[in-house]
Amino acid sequence: MKKLLIGFFLILGSFARADEGMWFLMFIERLNQRDMEKMGLQLTAEEIYSINNHSLKDAIVQFNGGCTAEIISKDGLILTNHHCGYDAIAELSTPEANYLKDGYWAENKANELKPKSLFVRFFVRMDDVSNRILSKVNSSMSEAEREKAISEEIALIEKENNEGGKYVVSVRSFFQGNEYYYFVYEDFKDVRLVGTPPESIGKYGGDTDNWEWPRHTGDFSMFRVYADVNGQPADYSNDNVPLQPKQYLKVNTGGVQENDFAMILGYPGRTNRWMPSGGIEQNVKFAYPAWVEGSKTGMDAMKKYMDQDEAVNLIYASKYAGVANYWKNRQGMIDALTEFNTAATKAKQEAKFNKWANKKKNRAKYGKVVSTINNYYALTNEKSRHDNYLQQLLRTSAFGTISRGIGKELLAYANADETTRANGIASLEESINAFISEMYLPAEIDILKAQLKLYSSKSTGYPLASAVVDMNGDFDAIIDDYFAKSIFASKDKLVAFLKNPDASLVSNDPLMNLSTNLIAHLLTKSPEVEKAQNDYTAAYRLLVEGMRKSKLATIDYPDANSTLRLTYGKVRSLPTDATNDAAVNYYTTMEGLVKKYKADDPEFDLPSRMLDLYETKDYGSYADKNGYMPVCFLTDNDITGGNSGSPVLNGKGELIGLAFDGNIEAMAGDVIFDKELQRTINVDIRYVLWLIEKYSGAKHIVDEMEIVK
Ligand code: ARG
Repeated sequence: MKKLLIGFFLILGSFARADEGMWFLMFIERLNQRDMEKMGLQLTAEEIYSINNHSLKDAIVQFNGGCTAEIISKDGLILTNHHCGYDAIAELSTPEANYLKDGYWAENKANELKPKSLFVRFFVRMDDVSNRILSKVNSSMSEAEREKAISEEIALIEKENNEGGKYVVSVRSFFQGNEYYYFVYEDFKDVRLVGTPPESIGKYGGDTDNWEWPRHTGDFSMFRVYADVNGQPADYSNDNVPLQPKQYLKVNTGGVQENDFAMILGYPGRTNRWMPSGGIEQNVKFAYPAWVEGSKTGMDAMKKYMDQDEAVNLIYASKYAGVANYWKNRQGMIDALTEFNTAATKAKQEAKFNKWANKKKNRAKYGKVVSTINNYYALTNEKSRHDNYLQQLLRTSAFGTISRGIGKELLAYANADETTRANGIASLEESINAFISEMYLPAEIDILKAQLKLYSSKSTGYPLASAVVDMNGDFDAIIDDYFAKSIFASKDKLVAFLKNPDASLVSNDPLMNLSTNLIAHLLTKSPEVEKAQNDYTAAYRLLVEGMRKSKLATIDYPDANSTLRLTYGKVRSLPTDATNDAAVNYYTTMEGLVKKYKADDPEFDLPSRMLDLYETKDYGSYADKNGYMPVCFLTDNDITGGNSGSPVLNGKGELIGLAFDGNIEAMAGDVIFDKELQRTINVDIRYVLWLIEKYSGAKHIVDEMEIVK
């Protein structure tokens, strides 16, 4: 038995390549510890993840649902990316007090700023519930029956572990439904802005440099977690106090060298490393081109108005940045997946699998897996193009989704009894204010018109939503008319509705009905597609199971799904031929930053104070050994979106940098990890500290940290 087990682990061990892999903390002892120690890790697995004692994992939080952040002082100070704090910073800014443009540092705790809603999530523990959940299903169940049985069991697991509502419990599927784990979290909702550099530093290089190396972005911002006097999560209150965390990171300013060990803990959002070739092909040819075109259409319409008025810029800056980020990413994916012929590589693996699957002993279970999967993609290619155009419409237009948001709230309010209404009026008023303050009507009219024109002219291989067909191409006049009539286009009409709630005003509203129709259309599937999708889901699960069982799988870690992972590797430059000459180094400095400077350019302008400090080379103790100011560096860690803001840690678990991006050469990375090309782009922690202390004069914040060399 023992021998057998060792054999098993050796096989798993052989998958565990240094750089590739997003590992579960509960398995690192078994799968990664030895490899990590060889590379320079000095911590035990127990010091990284322990259920019973404080460990490194207690210093890592998920930031507002989509990013990662880390605790770096005993008073709950947290560090994340500028682009993760961006939405909160823009919300707290006005044209007069413009923190996005000018930066901000709270002189004391009383001046820390509370955005409307911002939360951080601590990870308490996880465990394997695969057997428990999979014992509730069998292969004769339909996908719907299977889903129902699983969600019933999940509900029980959540209830058993949430300690009466104290914790958030989430059960997630891994390896395409072949394994299940539950995660226990604790949320803190009083999170305040401590400081941020100006956007010209925090987003230096803009969309031109986004996803690119060499890079010179000071992509960081700082917040603080507050708790009640007992250290428990609490709604915002003046009486709240800074959280005294179980664990915080020490900050190491000793600097990084090529080949130094580097590990990253964080919340990668989504990868598709197990995706079949048909899915890659569908994305490259149908889904992503529509995504790219749809997002650019929305971006152009927004930008026109953002450039005219700073108040409008502040409304759309965050939305624009989010859309632009994936606009460039998806084009990068199209290019990389095409160049590396990734679909063909995957198809070869599938052919091998298919051979195994059609051996006599496997045929009954796996024989049709590949053909079922391919059948589904062939049937849905045109639909995926259509869906992506529509999704970008819904994503960029504030009115596309009103039937799910503010419109739904208004309807519920109108249909409620007197008491419920009285109780709900304040929160509805808040929603109305938020809806109105987050959009600018002239821009919205343009966005919606432009998106409808694009959608109707380009999604030609699949039926359009009936509301769009009915417009008969007359989008300009009809949309103008809708906006003139809709209560959602007028704050006065919405406020009047609060006093005189009449449900028919909502259910007859032209923009409400457009939104309802578009979303319903997106969710509608023909019986044929419905069936193909069910078969596909089952087949994909079997593909992953069979790939692992047959040992044809080349990876053995689950796809990212917004759960906490560890990735380890080293500080590492890019190969010379991968990109341009300037990219060969593993780090950038202030020299390169100033070289990129272009006065008055929206992406490469710099505050004059930066240029002054550069002239005097006033880098204090943060200069590298040659007297230069380090800015960013590369590691070969395996991260994706959602890891933004993750700490880069040395072998002792000390903070040496902040992960914020991936490189364009490896944009196929979410589907296939390229050992030679895939890199993580990090801000050097010395640049962060220098910006806080020297550039911003906020030394008291640096003094809060425990700094080591
Ligand atoms: N590419 C980065 C990520 O996905 C976001 C960078 C934000 N900066 C920008 N210029 N849009 O995490």
